[in-house]
Amino acid sequence: MGFKPDLTRRDVTPKAMFLNRRQIMAGAAGLSLTGLIGRQARAQDALEPNSMEEIAGYNNFYEFGTGKEDPAKYAHMLTTSPWSIEVGGMVDKPGNYSLDDILSGVDIEERIYRFRCVEAWSMVIPWNGFELNQLLDQVGVQSRAKYVAFETAYRPDEMPGVRFPVVEWPYVEGLRLDEAMHPLTIMATGIYGETIPNQNGAPIRLVVPWKYGFKSIKSIVKITLTDQEPPTTWNKANPREYGFYSNVNPNVDHPRWSQATERVIGGGIFAARKETQMFNGYEEQVASLYDGMDLSENF
Ligand code: MTE
Repeated sequence: MGFKPDLTRRDVTPKAMFLNRRQIMAGAAGLSLTGLIGRQARAQDALEPNSMEEIAGYNNFYEFGTGKEDPAKYAHMLTTSPWSIEVGGMVDKPGNYSLDDILSGVDIEERIYRFRCVEAWSMVIPWNGFELNQLLDQVGVQSRAKYVAFETAYRPDEMPGVRFPVVEWPYVEGLRLDEAMHPLTIMATGIYGETIPNQNGAPIRLVVPWKYGFKSIKSIVKITLTDQEPPTTWNKANPREYGFYSNVNPNVDHPRWSQATERVIGGGIFAARKETQMFNGYEEQVASLYDGMDLSENF
């Protein structure tokens, strides 16, 4: 598909280098990063990433069960190689692309993002991944396209949780095209410079840091460009509680609990709750996407 062959999966930053670079960055305020992302990285310097144990031990991945520890127990059953993504809909170059093909044409970098779950807890995760806009540019998005729809693998033999109709399978999500093209939106393939653990969405998952965690769909097998707002799993399950946008917003409570504060995972049970920030702290970068929209209507 014309991906430039200069970077491969092996280029994810090794852990030691990553830690070293982070220390340098903390001192030099975003050294090698530029513009938007440079400012973002500096804003995140104050954040201490959670440990790999926390990140890979407390998960939502209902295909492997609804308990927070189920994904760590059962996600090893998922075969993640070979892997391919079917890209279709309003694109110039539809096709079934192997993950290796996709990765050979994108720039893998590290992004330390705050992650805010709709259940009012949060973590900080050092992802390795690439901007989704790189993939979309490669397949040629047609001008009629307005949205991007995503779909997770559905494999009853490898996913013990799909026996239970807790949500409709396969898990699906969607973004408006401008959200998908935003440089903060990444496809992640690693954490701490290591291959992404299966329970975190191996081999490739979406990460949208200004939205509640459930928008960040895991183990993606299908991406479709469309002119219609795509259905999303949690909106289908409970439209009163989960809207299409799902932007982190301390002023719009979930019908059953407050979104004003969050419990920081790893902070200990007696740690003070932290105030939730508008757009999860990424307001400067993304607020303009929603100019003129009533965010309590479009929640
Ligand atoms: N993707 C799929 N396919 N299935 C899921 O159950 N859970 C979502 C999201 N992506 C989910 C999913 C929810 S509710 C959250 S909070 C995040 O994944 C959790 O991501 P993490 O386990 O990497 O922290």
